[in-house]
Amino acid sequence: MADKQFDVLVIGGGPGGYVAAIRAAQLGFKTACAESNPYADPKGEPRLGGTCLNVGCIPSKALLHTSHLFEEAEHAFPTQGIRLEGKVSIDVPVMIGRKNKVVDQLTSGIKGLFKKNKVTFLAGHGSFEGNGPAGYVVRVGAETVEARHVIIATGSKPRHLPGIPVDNRIVCDNVGALDFDSVPKKLGVIGAGVIGLEMGSVWRRLGAEVTVLEALPDFMPFADMDVAKEALKVFTKQGLDIRTGVTIGETKVGADGVSLAYTGKDGKEARLECERLIVSVGRVPNTEGLNASTVGLDVSDRGQIVVDGHCRTNLPNVYAVGDVVRGPMLAHKAMEEAVMVAEIIAGQAGHANLDTVPGVIYTSPEIAWVGKSEQQLKAEGVAYRAGKIPFMANGRALGSGDPTGFVKMLADADTDRILGVHIIGANASELISEAVVAMEFGGAAEDLARICHAHPTLSEVVHEAALAVDKRPLHF
Ligand code: FAD
Ligand code: NAI
Repeated sequence: MADKQFDVLVIGGGPGGYVAAIRAAQLGFKTACAESNPYADPKGEPRLGGTCLNVGCIPSKALLHTSHLFEEAEHAFPTQGIRLEGKVSIDVPVMIGRKNKVVDQLTSGIKGLFKKNKVTFLAGHGSFEGNGPAGYVVRVGAETVEARHVIIATGSKPRHLPGIPVDNRIVCDNVGALDFDSVPKKLGVIGAGVIGLEMGSVWRRLGAEVTVLEALPDFMPFADMDVAKEALKVFTKQGLDIRTGVTIGETKVGADGVSLAYTGKDGKEARLECERLIVSVGRVPNTEGLNASTVGLDVSDRGQIVVDGHCRTNLPNVYAVGDVVRGPMLAHKAMEEAVMVAEIIAGQAGHANLDTVPGVIYTSPEIAWVGKSEQQLKAEGVAYRAGKIPFMANGRALGSGDPTGFVKMLADADTDRILGVHIIGANASELISEAVVAMEFGGAAEDLARICHAHPTLSEVVHEAALAVDKRPLHF
């Protein structure tokens, strides 16, 4: 007999796990959530919130915000007549301290949400022990738990490269990159993906000379080609030195920095000397330590738990959501799947549409998209119409002094259904929501063209892009 019995046990307390637990409890299930991460709160208990709240979305956005303000104070204020006496400087420990406070507030807030929703928090590592009379038996720390339904939300961890040991001081993954104690003079970044661009931007804005080394020949191949082209132009102008088609060679790590050999696109050998190095080359699912084979849980060669469209695993009543399964590694995707699974367990329909999960890169300008890119539509042979409007044609963008970028809308040539929206520009992260709503409801470009948008707002550029699909923009 297990020590504790629950209707639903969630393993992992990140966005996938804590949301699944809250929704399951709301639906009337006796629910527990096990979390084992090393980020302890003042009581010594593991913090909830997973990668996202502790070492991901939230702390990175806090640092992006501070560094953006810093850059604005240095470069944008004078252009609008605001003079600061003396040199603008950054107090890195204060910046990091504020970031940590935000993390504390949000992670402890989830413990509050658990109390409110009557979710039992179990501090400890969860691993399958076998089957019991009433469900699955899972060891959580020192005790055993039996649950009729198990939701696995164990997330992911950074991928490291052989020969480049991460100590999170000189060579950092996302954990160390969010916790520098000073601005390095020279920063190297391996991987021009989302973390590389966001964290590279943070430290560049604060004064680091940043070189980004990317293995693939093209920059941002996952984004719409026009957006990738514009982003490369803008980031390069800002001072990010982005080198694509690079092969990393021997890397020497010393007490004061890194000396890294690499071969460039042109086949020439070069060397990067930097005080600190961020390794951001993707993430791998957390499945080892789950003891999956004990219960026969299907895990792929890449370490992902194999699930169907409804996040069902090969085992009855065992589900998996978030970074540990296929699909984009994004917090909002994990939360969508979490709600879907809890509702399926409750006998409801459950719904998570991966086709309308938006992607956002929180650089400046921000980059956001949903649906298909132009190159994907071309490759699939889909006939489409495109509308593209620059922020330069928008009064609010000009008034704010930030008119970089554009909105591009792609719609089916026959039905006018929106197939993709791609934005590079200020507040793209917020603007994309309108496109997500439209696409989720099968909307057409004409629908957005017929909707009244407040003036003056950046959202008018989305409106104009919808009009431009039909070649009738009013302000461009
Ligand atoms: P996780 O958040 O990884 O949570 C899994 C939890 O399970 C962890 O706390 C882990 O300790 C725990 N765990 C693992 N194994 C066990 C076990 N056996 N027993 C008990 N507990 C266990 N996404 C966005 O959408 N927007 C962003 O802006 C964004 N920014 C990011 C910035 C960075 C620097 C990084 C690294 C990621 C970012 N992400 C962002 C991605 C986002 O953090 C993840 O997609 C999201 O956290 C996934 O949620 P999850 O619940 O699946 O996993
Ligand atoms: P990523 O997959 O976004 O980018 C990794 C990059 O590294 C790729 O461009 C890849 O080609 C490159 N790469 C791989 N091996 C390499 C090598 N040996 N040498 C040079 N380059 C190499 O992964 P990243 O940036 O580590 O982020 C992980 C995940 O976290 C993202 O996929 C994303 O899902 C999530 N995330 C989301 C954010 C957001 O939503 N704003 C912010 C940060 C992370």
